[in-house]
Amino acid sequence: ARPRVWVSQPLFDDIVARLDRYFEVAATHAVADHSPAAIARALREADGALVTLNDPVGAAEIAQASRLRAVANVGVGYNNLDVAALQARGIVATNTPDVLTETTADFGFALMMAAARRITEAERWLRDGQWRGWAFHSLLGAEIHGTTLGILGMGRIGQGIARRAGGFGMRVLYHNRSRLPEAIENECRAAYVDYETLFAQADHVVLVLPYSAQNHHRIDAATLARMKPTATLTNIARGGLIDEAALADALASGRLAAAGLDVFEGEPQVDPRLLALRNVVLTPHIASGSLATRRAMVSLAVDNLIAALGFGPEAGKPPNVIS
Ligand code: GLV
Ligand code: GLV
Repeated sequence: ARPRVWVSQPLFDDIVARLDRYFEVAATHAVADHSPAAIARALREADGALVTLNDPVGAAEIAQASRLRAVANVGVGYNNLDVAALQARGIVATNTPDVLTETTADFGFALMMAAARRITEAERWLRDGQWRGWAFHSLLGAEIHGTTLGILGMGRIGQGIARRAGGFGMRVLYHNRSRLPEAIENECRAAYVDYETLFAQADHVVLVLPYSAQNHHRIDAATLARMKPTATLTNIARGGLIDEAALADALASGRLAAAGLDVFEGEPQVDPRLLALRNVVLTPHIASGSLATRRAMVSLAVDNLIAALGFGPEAGKPPNVIS
């Protein structure tokens, strides 16, 4: 019998159809049920799975998945996977780096600019009919060009944002678990600083680091208190990095000028206090969301799954194994 794979939610049918050549495909065509019980049930019958960041896959979900050999995540972040639990069972896990780097960096820059220049707040004001003539004093934002950008997490996406910042004449500081090779620092024109210095000196901070239990609520009240009151904070990584209650306090009190958030701790729920604030730009986790990039992510995940299950041109050597 051919191996069975499970596709956890509707993706792009023409791309997912490439799986039909090798596998029996059980696809979820309706709105997906991402509950642990539903995932466990689907995985019980599967040799491989194509999942998204909505799907938690950990020890409980794979407990009865005796045939499971590969889990291909459609996304670069993989905090939805318990990689240690998968590895302990010899299940290969893969993600989709590289293909989304530039698109996601574009969006991070756009969100930072929207927060600094109050673009969505201004549009709401206009749509509400409050514009009574050129408003000299209203909606004055923060400068972007010539300011200092702080990037927390200097992986591929962080480097992409740094390169963009060069075009805006920004000074770029970064903090990362490990310092980058000098050649990359030079190419990005980015200077390594410690965590405290990053938050204290930056006019705009962008978060692009992977999320794990170790950095849960890393951006807490103490971190926010270090920031300039004129600064902005943009998060395109994972919501759990920020203590949202502390952020709402800082934004409400004027302790922090503005924020741009594409990710939230309780997605798709958004803290009502954030929803009520004017000085935060809120988007529904769309940073990698250009059509071309979302298609490339699915295509890469399909390639990974085919290869991880021992088929196709890269049989046994999936390009993006999470180690
Ligand atoms: C999206 O958030 C991703 O990790 O690809
Ligand atoms: C994170 O994984 C990145 O690529 O920046």
